[in-house]
Amino acid sequence: MTAIAIIVAAGSGKRFGAEKPKQFLELAGTPIIFHTLQRFEACSAIAQIIVVLPAAETDGFLAKAAKYGLQKLKTVVAGGNTRTASVWNGLNAVEPNSAEIIAVHDGARPFVTSEEIKRTIEKARETGAACLVAPVTDTIKEITPDGMILQTIDRNTLRRALTPQCFRIEILRRAFRKIDLLNEQATDESFLVEKLGYQISIVEGSPRNIKITVPEDLILAESLLKLPASRNSKF
Ligand code: C5P
Repeated sequence: MTAIAIIVAAGSGKRFGAEKPKQFLELAGTPIIFHTLQRFEACSAIAQIIVVLPAAETDGFLAKAAKYGLQKLKTVVAGGNTRTASVWNGLNAVEPNSAEIIAVHDGARPFVTSEEIKRTIEKARETGAACLVAPVTDTIKEITPDGMILQTIDRNTLRRALTPQCFRIEILRRAFRKIDLLNEQATDESFLVEKLGYQISIVEGSPRNIKITVPEDLILAESLLKLPASRNSKF
């Protein structure tokens, strides 16, 4: 039984403010989504890729993908109004009994490495659920609604949740069955699995695995692309 990646790229990219969604903007001449897909294509732990796109982008996407050598990408589905709805559409496109592990990944994170994908899948095989994370380097304050600092949280006990987040398929399906899909505002799948009461293992990843969200991230991304792989680990 194998691992299937669901790459969600159906967001509108409102915070980025460009005329097309950020995942279709070019990074070194190639749309960001193809950089991300190529990372999963290159990872031996991934058997198949499902991509979730805005409805207007699904037609002709497989033909474009073939030009980028993406042979593991077999399925393109339209996304929903929320990230959770988009992942759900991807999950429904998984053929029965074809996957042991589902790796959910943001289309806007093109710097994940094969090794990070593999380690997260392996951990999910062992424990059922695993989330790639990165350290928190700022001092974090909890605030009150009226704009005061309530307290400082020990950052050693905090991690930023990255993707991929990997789950045994039956656990992810069970988590989705528990929620009200139309009203769920979860920003990741671990949150849904946490709500089941399931323990999720962490896998330490690189802060280089950024999510391109605002225009400054694209400038950083152009520089990260030029860094040699050996400089990958600390940033
Ligand atoms: O909005 P945010 O940057 O957190 O989105 C993370 C990922 O989820 C992006 O790759 C985005 O395209 C995807 N997404 C989606 N469907 C939505 C909203 C976001 O596939 N409705």
